[in-house]
Amino acid sequence: MFYDLASSSWGEEETRAIQRVIDSGQLTIGSHVRQFEEDFARTFGVRHALMVSSGSAANLVGVAALFYKKDRPLQRGDEVIVPSISWATTYYPLQQYGLRLRFLDVELESLNMDVSQLERALTPRTRMVVAVSILGNPAAMDRIRAFCDSHGLYLFEDNCESMGSTLNGKLCGTFGDIGTFSTFFSHHISTMEGGVLVTDDSELFHLARSIRAHGWTRDVPQDSAIFDKRPDDFFEAYRFILPGYNARPLELAGAVGIEQLKKLDSMLEVRRCNAALFQSLFAGDERFIIQQERPGARSSWFSFTVILNPALDIDRREVMRAMKDADIGYRIITGGCFLRHDVIKYFDYDTVGEIVNANVAHDRGFFVGNHPRDIAPQVERFHQVLDRAAVGRRRSVVSV
Ligand SMILES: Cc1ncc(COP(=O)(O)O)c(C=O)c1O
Repeated sequence: MFYDLASSSWGEEETRAIQRVIDSGQLTIGSHVRQFEEDFARTFGVRHALMVSSGSAANLVGVAALFYKKDRPLQRGDEVIVPSISWATTYYPLQQYGLRLRFLDVELESLNMDVSQLERALTPRTRMVVAVSILGNPAAMDRIRAFCDSHGLYLFEDNCESMGSTLNGKLCGTFGDIGTFSTFFSHHISTMEGGVLVTDDSELFHLARSIRAHGWTRDVPQDSAIFDKRPDDFFEAYRFILPGYNARPLELAGAVGIEQLKKLDSMLEVRRCNAALFQSLFAGDERFIIQQERPGARSSWFSFTVILNPALDIDRREVMRAMKDADIGYRIITGGCFLRHDVIKYFDYDTVGEIVNANVAHDRGFFVGNHPRDIAPQVERFHQVLDRAAVGRRRSVVSV
């Protein structure tokens, strides 16, 4: 394909790392995963990092851990404030644990949660905000953190799309009580499948470690406050304390993650260079609304979003046809407006005010890929194609 949505970020180092693990015979979780977790925690300046089998698993394990805290655990029926645009598995654990969702609209410019609506979303049952920085672009994490602190709420930061992005110099993913990352193919680093949960809270970390592996005690430090070790090694070896999962990553993923993390900064630099070209071509053209960084934010530019200005009558189908003809890959923005998916019928939820912008993004938006390599010819061609295909007149308002 001339301009694909994603491509491999691997070099020889990753292949060699996989071979080393195969040669060692230790394919299940072991020292490479542990090393990757230590490297990740150091890189992101957090106390604890836990590698799991996917970003979705990180969300699931993280939400579960909050239900087993000693003090102020989440409980079924509690309310959670969520943005209307995110990936499906941002929301699923919330539904599966019996939480009630309150959906907020997004800002059209950033595609992130509209924080001006936060106070309105608050009720006596609110216990948590799930914040998501969409496609590399930091949400107003500082304001969301302050809101959570002033109302005694947990902040769960699903940062699966935004590794390496910062707000006022602080890395996204580190604002929350729990932060999650995805290392799926096409993300900022790739371990094939994979995810990471970070936290500074040792209790949450120990709970998450246990929940990651069958809910047993074996992976939890023996002096952890989440259980009382008994002097019976036979019993302790298979002791189950929490209803957990098996969300462990393979050792192969850990070994690849170590190599990928070393390249993160240089890959981010290239992504930002590509983004500068994209912005120079598209910004200021009233036909296209592109993702904008809020003051103090530095996006890690997962991809390039375009929303066809709803004030003009540009036909998205025409634009897509032109992109298809030009061999340019495109797709819906993240998962679009989550409220528009059939699965919503299984959720206990309501919306805070009208959901306008998320629907505009759903109906008139799409994204094309960014890559950790120079894609100037692709971005330029994409601009030429859109420039030609996006012909539209201003919609006239008919008054009666
Ligand atoms: C916001 C968000 N959360 C969670 C996930 C799930 O990550 P994974 O695909 O690793 O399960 C994704 C996937 O891209 C995502 O975009």
